[in-house]
Amino acid sequence: KDLKRKGLKQANNLARDFFRQVLQRHDAAAPARQYLAGRGLTPEVLERFQIGFAPPGWTSLLDHLGKKGYRPQELVEAGLVIKNEAGRYYDRFRSRVMFPIWDTLGQVVGFGGRVLDDSQPKYLNTPETSFFSKGRTLYGLHLARQPIREKGRVIIVEGYMDVITAHRHGVTNTVASLGTALTAEHGKLLLNYSRDIIIAYDSDTAGVAATIRGLDLLLELGCQVRVITMPDGKDPDDFLSKHGPGPWEELIDRAYTLIEYKLQQAAARGHVKTVADKTEVMRQVFPGLAAKSGVQKEEDLKTIARVLNLSWETVAGEFKRFEENLG
Ligand code: CTP
Ligand code: MN
Ligand code: MN
Ligand code: MN
Ligand code: MN
Repeated sequence: KDLKRKGLKQANNLARDFFRQVLQRHDAAAPARQYLAGRGLTPEVLERFQIGFAPPGWTSLLDHLGKKGYRPQELVEAGLVIKNEAGRYYDRFRSRVMFPIWDTLGQVVGFGGRVLDDSQPKYLNTPETSFFSKGRTLYGLHLARQPIREKGRVIIVEGYMDVITAHRHGVTNTVASLGTALTAEHGKLLLNYSRDIIIAYDSDTAGVAATIRGLDLLLELGCQVRVITMPDGKDPDDFLSKHGPGPWEELIDRAYTLIEYKLQQAAARGHVKTVADKTEVMRQVFPGLAAKSGVQKEEDLKTIARVLNLSWETVAGEFKRFEENLG
């Protein structure tokens, strides 16, 4: 059984090699090469992330791995092939850019395949197999774990391209949860490397909801967690490609704590209007400010004043009263 498992896992490594070759050499992959170059992926990056292309045929991989001795049913178990109701086998991934997903040792355990256009689904992933579970896998962790230890911090993003673009810009302590379904297993996995976690999910509705869920989940596990929001409602890939690593590191340094994030979200939804609302928000946020440096306090008080649409003097005055009541 163990031997078989190894064989199935090896099928994924061989599939990666096949998709790599197709991307590099196949005529049908020309649009994919163009697409990836257009997204800023140089040959070195394609190499580092082992990116490939699944050709358009229905049995390309099936035939290729068949010649290497794999039976169709084994490839179904490896997540690479599908059996239809008529009993016919065909490749799961066709005409897609292929992103290998690795275990912590760098062995390929699955794939995400992206379409080149706007068709749906945008990404197709390996299903749950005996060695791949989305809820236990963090994309890029085998490349990020040393940098996470060195920097003492991990940044968690949603997607393949967010990780790749972050690493490309030197922000190598970045991993992805492959969507917004962050699990306790993900959290425990990260705790092996660092307690200091930054959530950098997309600034869309799904990302915001998942950020709040993720904050609660990670805080419960005892992590020190903060979140960043991107000003123009996009994702880390978009932000880094547009602004570069300097502004990105600044966003990370100014990441929000739970309370700051809730304040910011409440204000964005327009729920902070009455005097009572504003007073309540200040009451919640001030404790998090008390321990900060003078400069940071001043910056935060400015932010609070801005989002609550109050003068700096009023907010600073309220904070002074709060601090006096503490001592
Ligand atoms: N995802 C998925 N299946 C989908 C959509 C998304 O598995 N149908 C996962 C992928 O891991 C994807 C991540 O969720 O990378 C984030 O989704 P989204 O923000 O929609 O995609 P991006 O990663 O931003 O994709 P791109 O930049 O390539 O458009
Ligand atoms: Mn998203
Ligand atoms: Mn999206
Ligand atoms: Mn994106
Ligand atoms: Mn995204």
